[in-house]
Formats: sequence, C-alpha cells, structure tokens
Amino acid sequence: MSSAAGPSAPIIVTGGAGFIGSNFIRCWIANEPTAVINLDKLTYAGNLENLSDLPGERLEFVHGDICDSALVKGLLARRRPRAIIHFAAESHVDRSIHGPDAFITTNVVGTSCLLECTRDYWQRLPADEQAAFRFIHVSTDEVYGMLTPEEPAFTEQHPFRPNSPYAASKAASDHIARAWHHTYGLPVITTNCSNNYGPYQFPEKLIPLMIHNALAGKPLPVYGDGLQVRDWLHVEDHCDAIRSTLATGRLGETYNIGGNSEKPNIAVVQTICDLLDAERPRADGKSYRTQIAFVTDRPGHDRRYAIDSTKIQSELGWTPRETFESGLRKTVRWYLANQVWTERVISGAYRDWIEKNYAAR
Ligand code: NAD
Ligand code: DAU
Repeated sequence: MSSAAGPSAPIIVTGGAGFIGSNFIRCWIANEPTAVINLDKLTYAGNLENLSDLPGERLEFVHGDICDSALVKGLLARRRPRAIIHFAAESHVDRSIHGPDAFITTNVVGTSCLLECTRDYWQRLPADEQAAFRFIHVSTDEVYGMLTPEEPAFTEQHPFRPNSPYAASKAASDHIARAWHHTYGLPVITTNCSNNYGPYQFPEKLIPLMIHNALAGKPLPVYGDGLQVRDWLHVEDHCDAIRSTLATGRLGETYNIGGNSEKPNIAVVQTICDLLDAERPRADGKSYRTQIAFVTDRPGHDRRYAIDSTKIQSELGWTPRETFESGLRKTVRWYLANQVWTERVISGAYRDWIEKNYAAR
C-alpha cells in the first residue's frame, strides 16, 4: 500500500464526471485541502470538460468501471484513500424504462462490487485508519415510492416502495450498502436526496432540457397533466450536505436531503419560460410559454415526492441556502452563459435518445 490513509489522504469520488459528482469535486477543491481521485467510466453522462478548469495537482482522473474489481482494488491499494463518495450510476428514469439492464449492472452489481473491493481494502487498514474511513453512498428519494398530495414528506423511516427500474436499482443498492455496514462493519453512510438542479446537468433532465428546447424554438414536452410534484434541491446545497455527512454523519445511518421546494412540473416549466422571457426575450416578442406542449405521460410516473430533512438539519446542522427562486435564476443564467457547453454534449447519441423518448409521445 502507499502512504497512510490519514486526514491528508485523498478521497475517491465515483462518477465525478457527471452532474452532481463534478459539482461535488468543484466544491471539495474550493473548501478542502486534500486531493480527489475521480473514478468514472465516461458513459454518455460523463464529461471531463465539467472539470477542465480545476487544478490538475489536486485532481486525478481514472478512467474505469466500478464493476471492474481488479481496477478498483488496484486503485485503492495505490492511492490509499480515506473515503469514497459513491455517485456513479445510471441516473435517468426514462432511460431505465427503455433499457433497464444498464441500471441493474451499474447501480446494483457495480455498487456491490465497489463495496466488496472497499471491504477488502478497509479490512487491511491499521485500526486508526479503519476507524477514520468512510463510504458515502449517494442515493435518491425515489426509493420511497410516491406520496399522495396529503401525505407527510418522506422521513428516513418511510418504507421502500420503488416504482421505476431506476428507483428499484437504487433501492437495491441502498439495501446492499446497509448490509455491508451491518454484517461487516464497513463504515457506510447513505444519503437520499430529492431532484437536484444547477450547472453541468445533462440536458435529458427536466430543467436543462426545457431551457435548451426553449432557446432552440422546440416544444417543451410536459408529461401528462404536468401536476406531478418534485422537491428541488440546488446541487451546491446537496454537495455541502454530503461534506457534512462525511465530516460528522453517524455510521450506518441514512440522511434525507431536500430543498424545501415542492413544485408541480408545470410551474417549474412556466417559471423557466418567465425567466427566459426576461433574460433572453424571443425575437417575435411572444412568451416561451407558447412552446409548452403536453405529451403522453411517463409509464408508472410517480405523482409526488417530498423530503423531510429534519434529521440532517438537527444532527449535522446542514440547511439549504438556496431558495428555488434564487437557484433557478442562477441556473437559467448559467445555461445562457454556457450554451457552448450544451451544444458540445448534444452528440449524435443525444439526438438518438431524444428521438426514442419523444417521437412517439
Ligand atoms: P449523471 O448521470 O449525471 O452522472 C453519472 C456519472 O457516473 C457519469 O459521469 C457516468 O460516466 C458515471 N458512471 C456511470 N456508470 C459508471 C460505472 N459503471 N463506473 C464508473 N462510472 C460510471 O448522474 P447524477 O445526476 O450526477 O447523479 C449522481 C448520483 O446521485 C447517482 O447515484 C444518482 O442516483 C444520485 N441522485 C441524483 C439525483 C439528481 O437529481 N440528479 C437525485 C438524487 C440522487
Ligand atoms: O428524485 C430524485 C431523482 O430526480 C433522481 O434520483 C434522478 O436521478 C433524477 O433524474 C430525478 O428523477 P426525475 O424523474 O424526477 O427527474 P426528471 O428531470 O427526469 O423529471 C422531473 C419531472 O419532470 C418528472 O416528474 C418527469 C417530468 N418530465 C421530465 C422530462 C425529462 C417532463 O414532464 N418532461 C420531460 O421531458
């Protein structure tokens, strides 16, 4: 093994070239003194350009799959990290409906492979390094299933009732992470958060898709009646919550992370239109709202998610700083200032996906 996994040792981030992972690495480098190793397979959702302005001496990229146990074991032995923050996943619900296999492979098999490699590494560490080591498993509120409009928000005690192939794969990974703590003592903490938004989000997800389509003069495809409710969490607030969890979270616990911003989808889309009307008015003077088009609903579409973040707020002192209004304005401005970024990620493969998901709606 290389030098000790003490406080100055690096952390490993899996999926650090994706949306939340790249924001987390940015946040880590701005706030923490230690180095980061980004282990990423670079699927369609992984983009190293998201990190290209960060200092190279603080960031190492390893191109690899979390399912590749030889690669993961070699990396752990070579770099001797003090923590792993596990973001890598297939993350888009609509893609899981069209093709669930990749979700089972990465989210279930990949997570269990990563946990096994980590257990093998962690068990060989000296006692003080074992005690300091952490595995943060980043998961979703979708594992809890859906709420009616009247039901209270999800607490950590809510039963798991995943409804999409994506949600089921994440729920399975949460169970595996829990078992590795319970059975082997691996120092795992799981976080379950709501819908993230912010810079560098792949334009298949609601907010960047709507901004991109609006500016391109395309329809804004709202599924069903648009009254499904999501809780919106600014990605930088999420990254702060994960840093708090790593610093002082209790082992074996789960923490729900939410933005206190429940909104129906149609309201989100209308607000994006209004912000664009103010920031980048259409040449014909009409509102972007005229581009809204109601389309066939997502199969099995969960009606409402809501997160009760009381536990992380009271135990770890974390609270979201961004309101949805301030966060969405910043986000719209980021996409307006970074249209070149969006154009570059919209490859031929992206166009194939849009055709597959929206042509028959
Ligand atoms: P993303 O799709 O933007 O990025 C996923 C990253 O993982 C990409 O860089 C991809 O290349 C990498 N990856 C995929 N398969 C891999 C593999 N087998 N090995 C190594 N790397 C691989 O995802 P995101 O939106 O940033 O989500 C990150 C995590 O947060 C996921 O675990 C997701 O389930 C969870 N989450 C996301 C949200 C959200 O709103 N985006 C909300 C709750 C939880
Ligand atoms: O709740 C957390 C989850 O949030 C994460 O675990 C997932 O990784 C992340 O993708 C997200 O899942 P959603 O399905 O909620 O996000 P998405 O952006 O795909 O859709 C948000 C809502 O908007 C959802 O109700 C579906 C709707 N929608 C989405 C798209 C892409 C539309 O109405 N039209 C669309 O074109």
